Amino acid sequence: MAQLWGGRFTKETDKLVYNFNASISFDKRFYEQDIQGSKAHVMMLAKQGILTDDEKQQILDGLESIRKDVENGKLEITEEYEDIHSFVEANLIDRIGDAGKKLHTGRSRNDQVALDMKLYTRSEITALQGLVVDMLRELLAIMKDNTETIMPGFTHLQKAQPITLAHHMGAYFEMFKRDHMRLKDIYKRMNTCPLGSGALAGTTYDLDRAYTAELLGFDGPTLNSMDSVSDRDYLIELMSALSTIMMHLSRFSEEVIIWNSNEYQFVDIDDSYSTGSSIMPQKKNPDIAELVRGKTGRVYGALTSILTTMKGIPLAYNKDMQEDKELVFDAIDTVKGCLALFTGMLATMKFNKERMLESCRHGFTNATDAADYLVNHGVPFRDAHGIVGKLVLYCIDKKIALDDMSLEEYKEISPVFEEDIYDAISMETCVNKRNTIGAPGPEAMKKVIALHEAYLEEC
Ligand code: ARG
Repeated sequence: MAQLWGGRFTKETDKLVYNFNASISFDKRFYEQDIQGSKAHVMMLAKQGILTDDEKQQILDGLESIRKDVENGKLEITEEYEDIHSFVEANLIDRIGDAGKKLHTGRSRNDQVALDMKLYTRSEITALQGLVVDMLRELLAIMKDNTETIMPGFTHLQKAQPITLAHHMGAYFEMFKRDHMRLKDIYKRMNTCPLGSGALAGTTYDLDRAYTAELLGFDGPTLNSMDSVSDRDYLIELMSALSTIMMHLSRFSEEVIIWNSNEYQFVDIDDSYSTGSSIMPQKKNPDIAELVRGKTGRVYGALTSILTTMKGIPLAYNKDMQEDKELVFDAIDTVKGCLALFTGMLATMKFNKERMLESCRHGFTNATDAADYLVNHGVPFRDAHGIVGKLVLYCIDKKIALDDMSLEEYKEISPVFEEDIYDAISMETCVNKRNTIGAPGPEAMKKVIALHEAYLEEC
């Protein structure tokens, strides 16, 4: 048991207590951040004359050798250390002796762990942003190819009006774009450096916190040392943003599962992204989409968990906060995996265009347009609604579509109908006429696609 605080104790820690308290099994994940933070701290201490240049160099070299040895597997991070901070410091002292004992001057593990977690989270946010951008690029590619691919749009999972595949994918583009913006926002708000806050009350050394912050790429130091060591708001914000990403992925998964069903057959999930059944030879299951939908609960769990952990903690640092790590790591890993897999599944998925068009034709998705036709010929909308209702009833009875009715049949229900009704209610017309910005008409869609392209160029 290697720990940093034996001095005032007269007894060994009970083994169970030690294990319960230790965090090395999971905080070893940020050994690099711990070393990076320590290097910046030491550079600052030397600049302020608190360490000599020689001590600084010894420590920097020692830290770098630890980093390299961990990376190439020569040095293993074992559970004999309480946490990653103890591991780095103990190994440094082993390697360089007395100078190593000065590393922790003007620092506490409280500001150290606050820094490590921020450094780790910051780089993960960047990685997550990259994965969201990959998803956006894939969606945009599908949109560009499908501004004229007609499919039914649904409300209440009932066929409603014709839209295009580009339009449907465009809805997801909006969602993931907001996710991207949220991540960017969180990064901006969290990018202040807690190091130099000490245990809670700053230190008596003449630290240059602005310099440390600058070395580590922060916008500046945090402004209250108590808040610095006990702030986990940025993790709550991140868990919330990740929950929203998962909610979007889960809705998308649900649609893919429905679209891939034998009844819909709108899409074919590629074999490489499907799985079979151990008993039913005909099965090709959408397991990836189902797993993404399922893992959503786990990320929501992380959000609820950290909110609950933080709610009763008095200022400043309390050990409860060690509980932030496992769940945040798990949520980040989960979301990264889901984003990458979903994008891959989307990129290899085939859209069954004929089937989508067919489905559109046989669901009265052009009924609103038939009513609009009557309105354009002077019939008040409420009356038009009633007339088209009768047409639909007639068609249901005959098992035909509105397009299959003869003009005589139309005229029997309303004399206002003329030959041009067929053009007015063709699926193409229904879509093409909807060109207000945000609507599925190809003209409107192309304008939106140009805006999306400009957004992605900035990413
Ligand atoms: N393992 C701790 C954590 O994750 C590090 C900080 C410990 N500080 C302390 N005073 N015990 O929060």
